[in-house]
Amino acid sequence: MNELDSELVSGQLSALGYRFVASAHEADVVLYNTCSVRENAEQKVRSRLGEIAQRKRSEPALVVGVLGCMAERDGPDLIRRMPVVDILCGPSELDRLPALLDNAVRTRASLGGEDAGARSAKQTALQGSASRRTATLAAAADRLELLDLSRAISPTDHNGSAYVRITRGCNKFCTYCVVPNTRGAEVHRPPDHIVDECRRLADAGVIEVTLLGQTVNHYRFEHGAAVTLRGVTQPQKGRAYRGGHRRDPYRGERVTTFADLLKRIHDEVPAIRRLRFVTSYPRDFGDDALEVMRDSPRICRYLHVPAQSGSDTVLQRMNRGYSVGEYLDFIDRARAFLDEPEIGRPLLIAGDMIVGFPGESDEDFDASVRLLERVRYKNCFIFKYSPRPGTAAYTRLPDDVPDAVKRERNTRLLAAQQTISDEIARAQIGNTLDVFVGGLSVRERKQRPGRASDGVGLTVGGRPAQDDADQITRASTAQMTGRTDGDLIVLFDTPDGREPGDLIGRILPVQIHQASTLTLFGALVGDRA
Ligand code: 5AD
Ligand code: SF4
Repeated sequence: MNELDSELVSGQLSALGYRFVASAHEADVVLYNTCSVRENAEQKVRSRLGEIAQRKRSEPALVVGVLGCMAERDGPDLIRRMPVVDILCGPSELDRLPALLDNAVRTRASLGGEDAGARSAKQTALQGSASRRTATLAAAADRLELLDLSRAISPTDHNGSAYVRITRGCNKFCTYCVVPNTRGAEVHRPPDHIVDECRRLADAGVIEVTLLGQTVNHYRFEHGAAVTLRGVTQPQKGRAYRGGHRRDPYRGERVTTFADLLKRIHDEVPAIRRLRFVTSYPRDFGDDALEVMRDSPRICRYLHVPAQSGSDTVLQRMNRGYSVGEYLDFIDRARAFLDEPEIGRPLLIAGDMIVGFPGESDEDFDASVRLLERVRYKNCFIFKYSPRPGTAAYTRLPDDVPDAVKRERNTRLLAAQQTISDEIARAQIGNTLDVFVGGLSVRERKQRPGRASDGVGLTVGGRPAQDDADQITRASTAQMTGRTDGDLIVLFDTPDGREPGDLIGRILPVQIHQASTLTLFGALVGDRA
């Protein structure tokens, strides 16, 4: 989600004439797009801000902005604690960033010199507590929709892969999570806009699209319901499927369900050869969506569907809205529809787990290990519970699992997952897999000088994107990285005489000859290479 936001912001700023530079040190304006989900993500940003504060002492005209969830969560408090920050812009206000930036740059120019740093008027755009009021929500949704619609799609600045947002915000209120506060209420984008965006991406050469939403499979758009109450757009509500209610009874012209949306993109934009979506919510999967996945060859057999815990009592305290039994029923149902290893289309499932949630006992934790072993995730992201101010758990549940216990559980769960990931990877040895080639491997990129991105900063002011192409065409043989349909990572070397640039953005057959936990190693095969 943040990556897509950064892309939209950079597109918007380049259209306005800002140039991008290769490193923050050369920039007149430095913007950090931030995440607040866990405390350590915020710490990283604070330490970057500390570094840049040093620089601002000698360059008072530098403009520094904090975008995203941390800006929204900390609000003006962040500026009080970190006066180096000139701009704060929440994730639901990114369309207003150009105006904020323009104001900040103008203030700086008009004040000039030393004064600029000391007296610059701070620019902020935060949704604040108004975020869940329907009228405000509708207005914000419309403005943000324009930001998505204005997406600048160039045939050269992607590696064949792109994200498309289908839903913003989240209504689930899991007790540990800041997202419903920082990103606001759930809003579903109109299906025509989504399909158009996919088509424009495909026209620009994108062949892999990942649909994004915090609870992506909760998507549901009611046509004509857009303008109802006193002319104000109403939020669209998704559906939960529990027990016997496994299909949306209102499928048809009036409603576009998640299943309909998947089918529309798959059928109307066949140039997209891989269609994925993240992140799924276990309770919201109808059989109709699973059927569309089963019957659509270009939809990947991949689900990221976090359980968070294997204990019913912990799930309840997390307000996840399902039991372990219901989660496992869903996994079995998904496998029954989609797992077809015999035709080379296994279903691979990824998950997220939190360890050390308030009140998690040894038995609760053991239940999480059992769940992980029962599901056999391809990979699972494991997080130590991090109490986040403003969430229900922070207010109501004492963070009573000692850090040493959290660390120990984290290590144990990781070890259990590693064994499973190893087995899944090793089972691929000897197989030939279709690999979507994303670019040079991390190792290869480290060996090449002059790489730009540090992952957190967005730097305004020159142009980094072209560097990749230059580096790539100069290479002789290089290690490439790519992904399978089920999102397994594959590394292979370019064959003699082949330029990496020729392979990037294509789907090519790779025979696997070695495997480690999260990575397969292989060689290109056949004439198609
Ligand atoms: N502490 C630890 N992990 C968290 N996550 C979200 N909030 C917290 C928190 N407060 C994890 C969940 C979620 C993933 C994106 O981050 O597992 O699925
Ligand atoms: Fe956070 Fe829960 Fe929403 Fe996911 S579903 S974004 S964990 S509140």
